[in-house]
Amino acid sequence: MNQLKLDYTAALDFITGDEITALKQEATDALAALLDGTARGNEYTGWLRLPDSIARENIQHLAAAAAALRQRVDTVVIVGIGGSYLGAKAIIDALSDPLDTLQQPPRVLFAGHHLDEEYHDALLRHLQHRPFGICVISKSGTTTEPAIAFRLLRALLERQTGKTEAARRVIAITDEHRGALRALATREGYATFAIPADVGGRYSVLTPVGLLPVALAGIDPVAIINGAAAMQRRSLDGTDTAALDYAAARNALYRKGYTTEITVNYTPRLHYLVEWWKQLYGESEGKQHRGIFPAGVDFTTDLHSLGQYIQEGRRDIFETVISVEHASRPLLVPRDDENLDNLNFLAGKRLDEINKMAERGTRAAHLSGGVPNLRVHLPALAGHHLGELLYFHELACGISAGILGVNAFDQPGVEAYKQNMFALLGKPS
Ligand code: PA5
Repeated sequence: MNQLKLDYTAALDFITGDEITALKQEATDALAALLDGTARGNEYTGWLRLPDSIARENIQHLAAAAAALRQRVDTVVIVGIGGSYLGAKAIIDALSDPLDTLQQPPRVLFAGHHLDEEYHDALLRHLQHRPFGICVISKSGTTTEPAIAFRLLRALLERQTGKTEAARRVIAITDEHRGALRALATREGYATFAIPADVGGRYSVLTPVGLLPVALAGIDPVAIINGAAAMQRRSLDGTDTAALDYAAARNALYRKGYTTEITVNYTPRLHYLVEWWKQLYGESEGKQHRGIFPAGVDFTTDLHSLGQYIQEGRRDIFETVISVEHASRPLLVPRDDENLDNLNFLAGKRLDEINKMAERGTRAAHLSGGVPNLRVHLPALAGHHLGELLYFHELACGISAGILGVNAFDQPGVEAYKQNMFALLGKPS
């Protein structure tokens, strides 16, 4: 079938049928709690039915705002961090031309996702003499990293164009009513889009937080939403158990001592999808001294670094491979008459076929080395299937956190570093 599928058969050598059956029951109960509003943190479960309920006019409105800004500028800087950054970056990287040089203008750059001075200085110098716009994203409106980046970028933009034109080149995505960014946007007359109150940062990729940057990058958000909506319908009406099964399988492995999950991709285009996945699960599950540690690798690149550890290191890891069936552009290995590298046996084969054999061979090697393996299968790296994948993981994460007995939708531990940093910087109380 032409849709996302989960295959956990290669994990069944490591868990018993009874264990997986018990976990499936717990997963079913956790899903029921999400659906009937009794899950921990249920005031933040607006994402559950969101893709299927987004009005098509809202998408059109968002696409029109993106098109208007794209016409005025040659670069757009997306400002945000965590859930206000990773989803957009993941989709744009997955669906854009892999080389920046092939990207049609406007170019999309990111800021406010760290505090590195040299990066932000280089960005400001790069933008100094070119027409640029800003899409600033912060639900709270007070997060330090994006707030500082926005200060810097806004000051440059206003110097460059004057306040009136600058206001036309800023789009703010924030809480509908509250927060410093909402107040500033209202005062300056920026175009704004709201993050629903019942959707937290790391669950916001299918709201304007993810979709507007995607439209700014010239990608149609409709296919993504349609894919997510299809996954939502199948998952919530019980015809597709992929999210339930994934949550059950990973928790069955966790209870057997497999405490680290490595999500694996075989294309650099999915690097940031794995980063998004790490944040979603890490911030949702890592609480009360519980949780599966989410790690990520890019294969085959990391087979030449972490591959050794995965094959023969501590046996407390399992892998989840994102396996993409069809690559879109055939590229054949050329014959070389000299054959000094002895690779003529590959001549005429697609690079994608070699990559797939690397995937199969690695999977078998890791399984025989004692690493349980789950596989999320995507028919192709296209908007519809990416939408399925995003919703699949949101739902599976909500279910999995329910099995673990933690609130998936808060992040109390994130405050600790901020308190220390502000104390060291002498923030007035
Ligand atoms: O998932 C979360 O809630 C966080 O990762 C936030 O998205 C992140 O801290 C950014 O917050 P804000 O959008 O309020 O700037």
